[in-house]
Amino acid sequence: MRNPFQYGSVVRGEAFCNRKQEIADLVRAMENGEKVFVYSERRIGKTSLIRTALEKLSARRFLGVYLDLWPTDSEASFAVALARAVAESVGPTPKKMLEAAKSFFAHLAPSVTLTEDGQPKVTFGIASPAAAKIDLTEVLEAPAKIAAQGKRKVVVVLDECQRILEYGNDGVERRLRSVIQHQSDVSYIFLGSRKHLVQKMFLDQDRPLYRAAGHYPLAPIDVTHWIPFIRRRFLDAGKEIEDTRIQALCAHTDGHPFYTQHLAHALWESCEAGKTVTDAMIERAVDLLLDRESYAYTTLWESLALNPRRFLAGLAAESRGVKPFSADFIQRHALRSASNVQRAVEALLQRDVIDHDNGSFVITDRFFKIWIRRRQE
Ligand SMILES: Nc1ncnc2c1ncn2[C@@H]1O[C@H](COP(=O)(O)OP(=O)(O)OP(=O)(O)O)[C@@H](O)[C@H]1O
Ligand SMILES: [Mg+2]
Repeated sequence: MRNPFQYGSVVRGEAFCNRKQEIADLVRAMENGEKVFVYSERRIGKTSLIRTALEKLSARRFLGVYLDLWPTDSEASFAVALARAVAESVGPTPKKMLEAAKSFFAHLAPSVTLTEDGQPKVTFGIASPAAAKIDLTEVLEAPAKIAAQGKRKVVVVLDECQRILEYGNDGVERRLRSVIQHQSDVSYIFLGSRKHLVQKMFLDQDRPLYRAAGHYPLAPIDVTHWIPFIRRRFLDAGKEIEDTRIQALCAHTDGHPFYTQHLAHALWESCEAGKTVTDAMIERAVDLLLDRESYAYTTLWESLALNPRRFLAGLAAESRGVKPFSADFIQRHALRSASNVQRAVEALLQRDVIDHDNGSFVITDRFFKIWIRRRQE
């Protein structure tokens, strides 16, 4: 039997746990043509959530356009990627895609080819995005034109939107701002990780997208939702796990979806059919995962200076939400001054080892946190 706990890629359907409230909130925002900015730590489940929400939209009344900005690196590549995503969403047949591409992006010389696995795909006959003076504003008008045809409203999802901050100038942000404000029948959902970057994009008064979208921070999944989800998957394989053990598992991972699935995967693997999960099994699963990462964690740890190490040890040891600039914390962890904390925070944020968390910080890799804790013992 295949391990039911999946981690690493987008999860949907059976593998997707709860998020009922979030799905309802986002579907409503999409239906209302709202502009929303959804952000979280890495791997909290933004892409899986938005994909699931898009599937809930009525295909008759809404057209969902999903675009991953990760591969883009400039205004021109953004424009081409968006044009392609719009045309392909109009599909599903190659004929429809081509019609859409020709009617909205004729100057990009579109054609439709088949991928190796037979999926139709739009390509443009321009030499290179940079050379081909593409007008982003024109591309950005396409969703509104589709909506204006009156059949379907449009939802545009821009995933990994923090990439836009790396384009070298704020041209895309400025254009997005001026265009999306007028498109009342088009919803724009921005998804981003690296919280500090994305917050900068929408909360910094000097950036063009300041207050251009509502905010939707995405939290880990609550243990009350994990309990039925995890228990059922063990039961389906003739394995038993008590609620208190699921709570123990989630305490290790803070309910962070990626790490919870990863640990549940290892635990499911080590529990034979007909058996009940024990505390020792959980410990062994954690040990196994830490062993696998041990080389990477040791290397990372050794690359850090003394104060960032002390800061991390403090964060790992204390409960969530601790105030790391408080005199108590500084004293307990021998950090000596708030400016030492400040420098440690900056260095660790820069390397994505920690992330902001409501006025405090979290160690992004929950297994690294356990590893650090164990070093202290
Ligand atoms: N609702 C969910 N139910 C169960 N597992 C989930 C759920 N959401 C996310 N996960 C777990 O987290 C992993 C990462 O999910 P996903 O790629 O959607 O997150 P993300 O926030 O988009 O990540 P990234 O920051 O890399 O873009 C999945 O592979 C899965 O293991
Ligand atoms: Mg994602």
